[in-house]
Amino acid sequence: MPQAVVTGAGQGIGRGIAQRLAHDGFTVVVADRDEAAAEKVAAEVGGTAAVCDVTDPASVGALAERLDDLDVLVNNAGIYLFEPLARVTPESFRKVMDVNVLGSLLCIQALAEPLSRGEGGSVVNIASMSATLPVPGTGMYSPSKAAVRSLTELAAVEYAPLRIRVNAVAPGRITTEGSAARQSDPERERRTAELLPAGRLGYPDDIAAAVSFFARSDSRYVTGQTLLVDGGLTIGTIPYFQKAQG
Ligand SMILES: NC(=O)c1ccc[n+]([C@@H]2O[C@H](COP(=O)([O-])OP(=O)(O)OC[C@H]3O[C@@H](n4cnc5c(N)ncnc54)[C@H](O)[C@@H]3O)[C@@H](O)[C@H]2O)c1
Repeated sequence: MPQAVVTGAGQGIGRGIAQRLAHDGFTVVVADRDEAAAEKVAAEVGGTAAVCDVTDPASVGALAERLDDLDVLVNNAGIYLFEPLARVTPESFRKVMDVNVLGSLLCIQALAEPLSRGEGGSVVNIASMSATLPVPGTGMYSPSKAAVRSLTELAAVEYAPLRIRVNAVAPGRITTEGSAARQSDPERERRTAELLPAGRLGYPDDIAAAVSFFARSDSRYVTGQTLLVDGGLTIGTIPYFQKAQG
Protein backbone atom coordinates (compact mmCIF):
# COMPACT_ATOMS: atom_id res chain seq x y z
CA MET A 1 0.00 0.00 0.00
CA PRO A 2 1.33 3.50 -0.79
CA GLN A 3 2.10 5.60 2.29
CA ALA A 4 1.47 9.30 3.01
CA VAL A 5 2.48 11.61 5.86
CA VAL A 6 0.16 14.54 6.55
CA THR A 7 1.41 17.13 9.06
CA GLY A 8 -1.04 19.06 11.20
CA ALA A 9 -3.61 16.38 10.43
CA GLY A 10 -5.19 16.38 13.91
CA GLN A 11 -8.00 18.69 12.74
CA GLY A 12 -9.23 20.98 9.98
CA ILE A 13 -7.84 20.79 6.46
CA GLY A 14 -5.17 18.25 7.47
CA ARG A 15 -7.84 15.89 8.79
CA GLY A 16 -9.78 16.27 5.53
CA ILE A 17 -6.61 15.47 3.56
CA ALA A 18 -5.93 12.39 5.72
CA GLN A 19 -9.49 11.17 5.11
CA ARG A 20 -9.24 11.70 1.35
CA LEU A 21 -5.81 10.03 1.00
CA ALA A 22 -7.03 7.04 3.05
CA HIS A 23 -10.02 6.83 0.70
CA ASP A 24 -7.56 6.92 -2.25
CA GLY A 25 -5.79 3.85 -0.84
CA PHE A 26 -2.88 5.40 1.08
CA THR A 27 -1.82 4.29 4.53
CA VAL A 28 -1.74 7.65 6.31
CA VAL A 29 0.65 8.75 9.05
CA VAL A 30 -1.28 11.43 10.93
CA ALA A 31 1.44 13.75 12.26
CA ASP A 32 0.51 16.50 14.70
CA ARG A 33 2.01 18.15 17.77
CA ASP A 34 -1.29 17.40 19.54
CA GLU A 35 -1.07 13.70 20.45
CA ALA A 36 -4.75 13.15 21.31
CA ALA A 37 -5.90 14.78 18.05
CA ALA A 38 -3.43 12.72 16.00
CA GLU A 39 -4.60 9.48 17.67
CA LYS A 40 -8.26 10.31 17.05
CA VAL A 41 -7.80 11.05 13.33
CA ALA A 42 -5.47 8.06 12.88
CA ALA A 43 -8.23 5.82 14.28
CA GLU A 44 -10.78 7.44 11.92
CA VAL A 45 -8.67 6.82 8.80
CA GLY A 46 -7.17 3.46 9.79
CA GLY A 47 -3.68 4.98 9.83
CA THR A 48 -1.02 5.57 12.45
CA ALA A 49 -0.45 8.59 14.69
CA ALA A 50 2.87 10.38 15.07
CA VAL A 51 3.50 13.13 17.59
CA CYS A 52 5.61 15.60 15.70
CA ASP A 53 6.41 19.29 16.07
CA VAL A 54 7.47 20.33 12.57
CA THR A 55 9.60 23.19 13.94
CA ASP A 56 11.82 20.80 15.89
CA PRO A 57 14.50 19.04 13.80
CA ALA A 58 14.79 16.20 16.38
CA SER A 59 11.04 15.59 16.30
CA VAL A 60 10.96 15.59 12.48
CA GLY A 61 14.04 13.32 12.46
CA ALA A 62 12.27 10.84 14.74
CA LEU A 63 9.33 10.78 12.30
CA ALA A 64 11.71 10.09 9.40
CA GLU A 65 13.35 7.23 11.35
CA ARG A 66 10.14 5.25 11.47
CA LEU A 67 9.57 5.38 7.69
CA ASP A 68 11.16 3.05 5.16
CA ASP A 69 9.36 4.05 2.00
CA LEU A 70 7.20 7.09 1.59
CA ASP A 71 5.12 8.14 -1.42
CA VAL A 72 3.56 11.42 -0.33
CA LEU A 73 4.36 14.20 2.15
CA VAL A 74 1.72 16.86 2.76
CA ASN A 75 3.12 19.90 4.59
CA ASN A 76 -0.16 21.16 6.04
CA ALA A 77 0.78 22.22 9.61
CA GLY A 78 0.41 25.97 9.84
CA ILE A 79 -0.54 28.69 12.29
CA TYR A 80 -2.30 32.04 12.04
CA LEU A 81 -1.18 34.94 14.19
CA PHE A 82 -3.15 37.86 12.88
CA GLU A 83 -2.03 41.39 13.79
CA PRO A 84 -1.23 44.60 11.93
CA LEU A 85 2.33 44.75 10.61
CA ALA A 86 3.02 47.61 13.05
CA ARG A 87 2.53 45.15 15.94
CA VAL A 88 4.64 42.27 14.60
CA THR A 89 7.43 41.50 17.08
CA PRO A 90 10.57 39.45 16.45
CA GLU A 91 8.88 36.71 18.53
CA SER A 92 5.60 36.67 16.56
CA PHE A 93 7.57 36.88 13.28
CA ARG A 94 9.65 33.82 14.21
CA LYS A 95 6.67 31.86 15.52
CA VAL A 96 4.76 32.13 12.22
CA MET A 97 7.77 31.67 9.95
CA ASP A 98 8.99 28.73 12.06
CA VAL A 99 5.84 26.66 11.63
CA ASN A 100 4.71 27.78 8.17
CA VAL A 101 8.05 27.94 6.36
CA LEU A 102 10.85 26.30 8.35
CA GLY A 103 8.55 23.39 9.32
CA SER A 104 7.85 22.61 5.66
CA LEU A 105 11.54 22.78 4.76
CA LEU A 106 12.59 20.55 7.69
CA CYS A 107 10.04 17.91 6.66
CA ILE A 108 11.17 17.99 3.02
CA GLN A 109 14.82 17.67 4.06
CA ALA A 110 14.23 14.84 6.53
CA LEU A 111 11.77 12.85 4.42
CA ALA A 112 13.50 13.24 1.04
CA GLU A 113 15.31 9.95 1.44
CA PRO A 114 12.27 7.72 2.05
CA LEU A 115 10.42 9.74 -0.64
CA SER A 116 13.14 9.06 -3.18
CA ARG A 117 12.97 5.27 -2.77
CA GLY A 118 10.66 3.31 -5.03
CA GLU A 119 9.01 5.16 -7.89
CA GLY A 120 9.75 8.66 -6.55
CA GLY A 121 7.57 10.78 -4.33
CA SER A 122 5.26 13.76 -4.24
CA VAL A 123 5.36 16.66 -1.79
CA VAL A 124 2.30 18.88 -1.47
CA ASN A 125 2.70 22.11 0.49
CA ILE A 126 -0.36 23.92 1.78
CA ALA A 127 0.11 27.59 0.94
CA SER A 128 -2.76 30.11 0.90
CA MET A 129 -4.50 32.51 -1.45
CA SER A 130 -2.82 35.17 0.70
CA ALA A 131 0.47 34.16 -0.96
CA THR A 132 -0.95 35.78 -4.11
CA LEU A 133 -3.13 38.46 -2.58
CA PRO A 134 -1.80 39.60 0.84
CA VAL A 135 -4.61 40.13 3.32
CA PRO A 136 -4.34 43.28 5.52
CA GLY A 137 -4.09 42.57 9.24
CA THR A 138 -2.70 39.05 8.89
CA GLY A 139 0.77 39.94 10.14
CA MET A 140 3.46 37.59 8.87
CA TYR A 141 0.89 35.04 7.69
CA SER A 142 0.65 36.33 4.09
CA PRO A 143 4.45 36.74 3.69
CA SER A 144 4.98 33.26 5.19
CA LYS A 145 2.67 31.72 2.60
CA ALA A 146 4.40 33.63 -0.21
CA ALA A 147 7.60 32.02 1.07
CA VAL A 148 5.90 28.59 0.94
CA ARG A 149 5.08 29.23 -2.70
CA SER A 150 8.68 30.16 -3.49
CA LEU A 151 9.95 27.16 -1.49
CA THR A 152 7.68 24.94 -3.60
CA GLU A 153 9.29 26.16 -6.83
CA LEU A 154 12.85 25.91 -5.54
CA ALA A 155 12.37 22.48 -3.97
CA ALA A 156 10.75 21.23 -7.20
CA VAL A 157 14.01 21.99 -9.00
CA GLU A 158 16.49 20.92 -6.31
CA TYR A 159 14.72 17.63 -5.48
CA ALA A 160 13.91 16.68 -9.07
CA PRO A 161 17.10 14.58 -9.36
CA LEU A 162 15.69 12.41 -6.53
CA ARG A 163 12.47 12.01 -8.57
CA ILE A 164 10.49 14.01 -6.04
CA ARG A 165 7.80 16.34 -7.37
CA VAL A 166 6.86 19.37 -5.26
CA ASN A 167 3.60 21.29 -5.72
CA ALA A 168 1.35 23.45 -3.55
CA VAL A 169 -2.34 23.95 -2.97
CA ALA A 170 -3.40 27.47 -1.99
CA PRO A 171 -6.75 27.47 -0.15
CA GLY A 172 -9.09 30.46 0.03
CA ARG A 173 -11.58 30.85 2.92
CA ILE A 174 -12.05 27.38 4.40
CA THR A 175 -14.19 26.64 7.43
CA THR A 176 -12.06 24.76 10.00
CA GLU A 177 -11.54 24.64 13.76
CA GLY A 178 -8.58 27.01 13.27
CA SER A 179 -10.52 29.56 11.23
CA ALA A 180 -13.72 29.33 13.33
CA ALA A 181 -12.77 32.23 15.61
CA ARG A 182 -12.50 34.54 12.59
CA GLN A 183 -15.72 33.25 11.04
CA SER A 184 -17.98 33.52 14.10
CA ASP A 185 -20.33 36.25 12.76
CA PRO A 186 -22.94 34.40 10.61
CA GLU A 187 -24.15 37.61 8.91
CA ARG A 188 -20.62 38.59 7.89
CA GLU A 189 -19.96 35.04 6.67
CA ARG A 190 -23.12 35.12 4.56
CA ARG A 191 -21.99 38.40 2.94
CA THR A 192 -18.48 37.01 2.40
CA ALA A 193 -19.83 33.86 0.77
CA GLU A 194 -22.05 35.92 -1.55
CA LEU A 195 -19.03 37.91 -2.76
CA LEU A 196 -17.21 34.75 -3.82
CA PRO A 197 -17.73 33.65 -7.44
CA ALA A 198 -18.35 30.11 -6.08
CA GLY A 199 -21.11 31.48 -3.81
CA ARG A 200 -19.93 29.64 -0.70
CA LEU A 201 -17.00 29.27 1.67
CA GLY A 202 -14.81 26.21 1.17
CA TYR A 203 -14.57 22.97 3.16
CA PRO A 204 -11.54 20.79 3.94
CA ASP A 205 -12.64 18.21 1.35
CA ASP A 206 -12.44 20.90 -1.38
CA ILE A 207 -8.74 21.25 -0.57
CA ALA A 208 -8.23 17.51 -0.10
CA ALA A 209 -9.50 16.85 -3.66
CA ALA A 210 -6.73 19.04 -5.10
CA VAL A 211 -4.12 17.46 -2.81
CA SER A 212 -5.27 14.06 -4.00
CA PHE A 213 -4.53 15.09 -7.62
CA PHE A 214 -0.97 16.16 -6.76
CA ALA A 215 -0.44 13.04 -4.62
CA ARG A 216 -1.35 10.58 -7.36
CA SER A 217 0.31 9.73 -10.66
CA ASP A 218 -2.37 11.68 -12.57
CA SER A 219 -0.11 14.69 -11.92
CA ARG A 220 3.12 12.82 -12.80
CA TYR A 221 4.24 15.54 -15.25
CA VAL A 222 3.42 18.48 -12.93
CA THR A 223 5.95 19.99 -10.55
CA GLY A 224 6.66 23.41 -9.00
CA GLN A 225 3.04 24.55 -9.36
CA THR A 226 0.69 26.25 -6.93
CA LEU A 227 -3.01 25.60 -7.50
CA LEU A 228 -5.44 28.16 -6.06
CA VAL A 229 -8.48 26.41 -4.59
CA ASP A 230 -10.35 29.50 -3.47
CA GLY A 231 -13.80 29.51 -5.08
CA GLY A 232 -12.58 32.36 -7.30
CA LEU A 233 -11.62 34.68 -4.41
CA THR A 234 -8.41 35.87 -6.07
CA ILE A 235 -10.25 36.85 -9.23
CA GLY A 236 -12.37 39.10 -6.99
CA THR A 237 -11.26 42.18 -8.89
CA ILE A 238 -13.79 41.19 -11.55
CA PRO A 239 -16.80 41.96 -9.28
CA TYR A 240 -14.93 45.19 -8.38
CA PHE A 241 -14.91 46.25 -12.05
CA GLN A 242 -18.54 45.13 -12.48
CA LYS A 243 -19.52 47.37 -9.53
CA ALA A 244 -17.23 50.24 -10.54
CA GLN A 245 -18.57 50.29 -14.10
CA GLY A 246 -22.22 49.56 -13.27
N1 LIG B 1 -8.65 27.53 7.05
C1 LIG B 1 -8.39 28.38 6.07
O1 LIG B 1 -9.23 29.23 5.70
C2 LIG B 1 -7.04 28.33 5.38
C3 LIG B 1 -6.83 29.16 4.26
C4 LIG B 1 -5.59 29.12 3.62
C5 LIG B 1 -4.59 28.28 4.06
N2 LIG B 1 -4.81 27.49 5.15
C6 LIG B 1 -3.69 26.64 5.58
O2 LIG B 1 -4.14 25.31 5.72
C7 LIG B 1 -3.41 24.66 6.77
C8 LIG B 1 -4.39 24.07 7.77
O3 LIG B 1 -5.24 25.10 8.24
P1 LIG B 1 -6.46 24.80 9.23
O4 LIG B 1 -7.40 25.94 9.14
O5 LIG B 1 -6.94 23.42 9.03
O6 LIG B 1 -5.69 24.90 10.65
P2 LIG B 1 -6.12 24.39 12.11
O7 LIG B 1 -5.61 25.41 13.06
O8 LIG B 1 -7.58 24.03 12.16
O9 LIG B 1 -5.26 23.04 12.28
C9 LIG B 1 -3.86 23.08 12.26
C10 LIG B 1 -3.29 21.79 12.82
O10 LIG B 1 -1.86 21.91 12.76
C11 LIG B 1 -1.30 21.47 13.99
N3 LIG B 1 -0.03 22.18 14.21
C12 LIG B 1 0.17 23.49 14.47
N4 LIG B 1 1.47 23.73 14.67
C13 LIG B 1 2.12 22.54 14.51
C14 LIG B 1 3.48 22.13 14.59
N5 LIG B 1 4.45 23.02 14.92
N6 LIG B 1 3.79 20.85 14.33
C15 LIG B 1 2.82 19.94 14.03
N7 LIG B 1 1.52 20.26 13.97
C16 LIG B 1 1.17 21.54 14.20
C17 LIG B 1 -2.35 21.83 15.03
O11 LIG B 1 -2.18 21.06 16.23
C18 LIG B 1 -3.65 21.54 14.27
O12 LIG B 1 -4.04 20.17 14.45
C19 LIG B 1 -2.48 25.71 7.34
O13 LIG B 1 -1.21 25.61 6.73
C20 LIG B 1 -3.15 27.00 6.95
O14 LIG B 1 -2.25 28.09 6.89
C21 LIG B 1 -6.00 27.50 5.82
